[in-house]
Amino acid sequence: TARPIVFSGMQPSSGSLHLGNYLGALVNWVALQDEVDPIYCVVDLHAITVAQDPAELRTQTRFTAAQYLAAGIDPERSTLFVQSHVPAHAELAWVLSTITGFGEASRMTQFKDKSARHGAEATTVGLFTYPVLMAADILLYDTNLVPVGDDQRQHLELTRDLAGRFNSRFGETFRVPEAYIPEEAARIYDLQDPTSKMSKSAASDSGLVRLLDDPAVTAKKFKSAVTDAEREIRYDPATKPGISNLLDIYSTVTGTPIADLEQSYAGRGYGDLKKDLAEVVVERLSPIRARTLELMEDPAELDRLLAHGADKAAERAERKLADVYDRVGF
Ligand code: ADP
Ligand code: NA
Repeated sequence: TARPIVFSGMQPSSGSLHLGNYLGALVNWVALQDEVDPIYCVVDLHAITVAQDPAELRTQTRFTAAQYLAAGIDPERSTLFVQSHVPAHAELAWVLSTITGFGEASRMTQFKDKSARHGAEATTVGLFTYPVLMAADILLYDTNLVPVGDDQRQHLELTRDLAGRFNSRFGETFRVPEAYIPEEAARIYDLQDPTSKMSKSAASDSGLVRLLDDPAVTAKKFKSAVTDAEREIRYDPATKPGISNLLDIYSTVTGTPIADLEQSYAGRGYGDLKKDLAEVVVERLSPIRARTLELMEDPAELDRLLAHGADKAAERAERKLADVYDRVGF
């Protein structure tokens, strides 16, 4: 039987991905390649719904794709591509916009939040129709499953409604996708503030381990990680969030059960744990960092990989769009 089709869009991101993104999400995306038919789309069309700097957007789009490839997204087992390289996304979005109610779109809470944040002048029609483009992204590929956080749940509901509406008006065309709730994934906390999730929007950079940090910087960040006044290396997130976070990272990176780590560090100091952990993390991230830099310095190779992804995506997307055009009377 065919593998389930999973569509996941990622925003072109300015900075390097961090250890939370990597251990909490990317590692799972890489593993999923053996079980599903994954479509990973760098959503640059979505990125311009708020004002962008063109040169920056171009770099960010490539940088994001490069990090996914470097982390193990395989251009053969996955379809990794840039949204604007496949015109069918914008074309289907137009058709879907003509079956989307204005009132229905107006109820999207993310639009209300974003437009309130950006102000009336900076609120564009593109920002308003963003969820319709997202529906097109998903429906073009007969997607079975869409990983969605809480902020995208309403948009997936709209996608399902639009698919059903189109199907009942024009005949069975789209698969109605389901939300995908990943198995429990690692949750990584800020090294300086171990009760807050590691996040690119952290106040300070020193608790954030980036894939692209220099190894010396990574070692320094672990060395100065916040712990507690005890001396015991014991897993207890409630009373020892710092040490527990370090043990979690260690266990996730190496596959060693936490109990085994507690045992092997019995009677040893926090400094030992931090030093060893920095080493295993650097060892894990170094090839990813090297490959990302290599791809960023070799535009021809990155272009080739992205063109290959766009070809694979376009073949599927164009077939669906042709069916849609036929059904609406083009
Ligand atoms: P950020 O929180 O830094 O803004 P995003 O919201 O862009 O990160 O998240 C991208 C992906 O990385 C999501 O799948 C999210 O669940 C995952 N992720 C982000 N931060 C962490 C974290 N600290 N621990 C585990 N997973 C995380
Ligand atoms: Na976030």
